[in-house]
Amino acid sequence: MSARRPTSVEGGKASKPVTVSSIRNAKGREPLVCLTAYTTPVAQALDEACDLLLVGDSLGMVVYGLDSTIPVTLDMMSAHGAAVVRGARHALVVVDLPFGSYQESPGQAFQSAARILAETGCGAVKLEGGAVMAETINFLTQRGVPVLSHIGLQPQSVNALGGYAARGKQAAEAEAIVADARAVADAGAFAIVVEGVVAPLAARITETVRVPTIGIGASAECDGQILVTEDMMGATFGHVPKFVRKYADVGNVMREAAKAYAEDVRARRFPAEEHLYGVPSPKVAAV
Ligand code: KIV
Repeated sequence: MSARRPTSVEGGKASKPVTVSSIRNAKGREPLVCLTAYTTPVAQALDEACDLLLVGDSLGMVVYGLDSTIPVTLDMMSAHGAAVVRGARHALVVVDLPFGSYQESPGQAFQSAARILAETGCGAVKLEGGAVMAETINFLTQRGVPVLSHIGLQPQSVNALGGYAARGKQAAEAEAIVADARAVADAGAFAIVVEGVVAPLAARITETVRVPTIGIGASAECDGQILVTEDMMGATFGHVPKFVRKYADVGNVMREAAKAYAEDVRARRFPAEEHLYGVPSPKVAAV
């Protein structure tokens, strides 16, 4: 069943939804603000501040505790994508195509993307890969599927690349990544996520392509930034990459709240009178 994007009206005031075109046209203007989201309440909390919400396949690690993004499935992306669309009124929602759902052929990629668009109501899909994916990006964009590209460090290729180290330190690798950026932009990607590349290379890619670059671990020279929300909120308990700035300590807020709740339950301070059914409130009792 197809999900429906909520109308863009909050408190009677229309908030203009961000579109693929407005992201594409943001090049050279104010930096694009992007974060990941996997659930409705998180989307609701982030929506107003963000131009783009990415339902990243990073949810495999962040939500499901997997070791990598490789086991993430289309079913998972579809369920979380629909949840995020239900919570977003303003930001453009983009859903990752997971590993194995698009690399085989342009036709396979179209089937997967069409399913994600129809089942979630999102505005675009993201896929990893540079020049090697150019034919697929062209195939999708010619058939009505907006594509956000992802180059540089590509987590779905971790087995082939042998880890998550920054890319572009060697001149030949840097040239190949610039060629990737040109290829995906020419193929029709409306923007490019540039992950984990050395700072001068991010600046060069941003100068080279006519579509916005969205950096993660790639310097402030990009046209926008994206982070995994749980990393920047301090809501994870594992390793946090060097490029993340922590804006909150949500993990510890949750720990402290759980401790306070446990103390109240054990001391029979919770639930209190105001939480009970069948006990008249003082106002009702007085009538
Ligand atoms: O899966 C993801 O969350 C991503 C971002 C980190 C760019 O691809």
